[in-house]
Parts: sequence; structure tokens; C-alpha cells
Amino acid sequence: MKKFAIAVDGPAGSGKSTVAKAVAKRLGIIYVDTGAMYRGVAYFCIQQGVSPLDEAGVLSLLKDIKMEIQPTSDGQRIFLDGEDITSKIRTQKIGQGASQVATIQTVRQKLGDMQRDMAKNNSVIMDGRDIGNFVLPQAEVKIYMDASVEERARRRMGELATKGEKPVFEVICEEIIRRDENDMNRLYNPLRQGKDAVYLDTTAMAIDDVVETIIRITEEKIGEV
Ligand code: CDP
Repeated sequence: MKKFAIAVDGPAGSGKSTVAKAVAKRLGIIYVDTGAMYRGVAYFCIQQGVSPLDEAGVLSLLKDIKMEIQPTSDGQRIFLDGEDITSKIRTQKIGQGASQVATIQTVRQKLGDMQRDMAKNNSVIMDGRDIGNFVLPQAEVKIYMDASVEERARRRMGELATKGEKPVFEVICEEIIRRDENDMNRLYNPLRQGKDAVYLDTTAMAIDDVVETIIRITEEKIGEV
């Protein structure tokens, strides 16, 4: 099989991870969740008593982070110092912290290098905010996935509910808007739709339809996978 890369970018809750995981399974390629890496850095900082907003503090910790990513048939697992933190990083607090450490250029460079490394010898579908424009600019397929704020908040509510959290809809909407603002307006590698990315509005689309659409676009670009 020819090696290729699918880059999926878009705002919080647009459905990137669910869809990318399913596409990876169907095509037999590796799924890389880059957001989990930013979450891992935020988790480590908070654990060490450093605020994700304290740039100097975050930078002083960066060299000590021993983060490992392990692709699995069901997505990926992330380890910090050998401890599996995959589910621990999926909270609103860590999401917000991730968005804050993600504004720091040195953090982006370090994680970007790790991400490129994972795509070096494998076909991947990688999701994040800067994949098509910065991490894998040579990716054969680039998708920009979007949905309305309300729909994204509804999806996030469902996700948090399965974990026993009882969030308030308006609060989730506000957090999504704040995170979009952070991600789209930061100085380094902001979230932007690339000129060469296919725009997919998933507001009214079922997950399976989005998966099929991406597979069709991929086969159009690189032939049968
Ligand atoms: O799953 P969700 O969309 O809520 O967020 P995520 O993909 O886990 O990413 C968390 C945060 O990390 C985002 O809000 C971004 O600020 C940052 N991030 C980034 O800057 N670049 C990436 N490639 C991936 C995530």
C-alpha cells in the first residue's frame, strides 16, 4: 500500500476525533490525535503545580515531559512517565489548559516534531488545528471539519454525560466560543481553513456520512486504498 496522509483540522467538537478514528479503522491506517498531546502537556503542568498560562513555567517543565503515544486498533493511548493518562485528560479544565499551552511556539515545535515523526513511516489520519497548514503540509488529503456552535456544544454535552459530568448547555457554548477564539487568533499556527482543504459542515451530517465522504475524497485523490 502506498504511504499517504490525511490531515483533519477544525474547531472543538466538530467531530474530528470520532470520524478520524473510524476512517483509520476502515482504511487500516494509524490515527494520531494531536489534541491529546497538548492536553498531555497541560495535564503535566497542572500536576506539577504550574499554570498553563505561565509561559516561563511551562517552558521550564517541557524538557522533563516524558510523553509517549501508542497507536491502537481503537485510536491511541497516551502515557506520561509510563502512566496511561488517556481518559484523565478528557476534562473541560484540561481542554482549556491545552488551548493555553498551545499558544506557546516552543510547545508547538516540540509536539509538531513528534507528530511528523509518527507520519514518517506510516500512513496516518491526523487531527488537530494546524495539521494541513503546518505539521503535514504535503498531506495528500486535507479536510476542514466544522459545525455550528450549538451542535458542537450538544455533542460535547453528550460526551461529558457519558463520563458522569452534568454540564450546563450555556456554559459549554461559552467555553467552545472562548476556545475557538484562542485557537483562531493565536500568533503561532492558528486554526485556519487551508486553501487546499475540503470544507465539510457536519452540523446536519451523521457520523457515517462524514466517514464515507472522507473515504471517497481519499480514493479520488490517491486511488483505491
Ligand atoms: O477534542 P477537542 O476538539 O475538544 O480538543 P482537542 O483536539 O483535544 O485539542 C485541545 C486543544 O489543543 C485545542 O483547543 C487547541 O488549542 C490545541 N491544539 C492545537 O493547538 N493544535 C493541535 N494540532 C491540536 C490541538
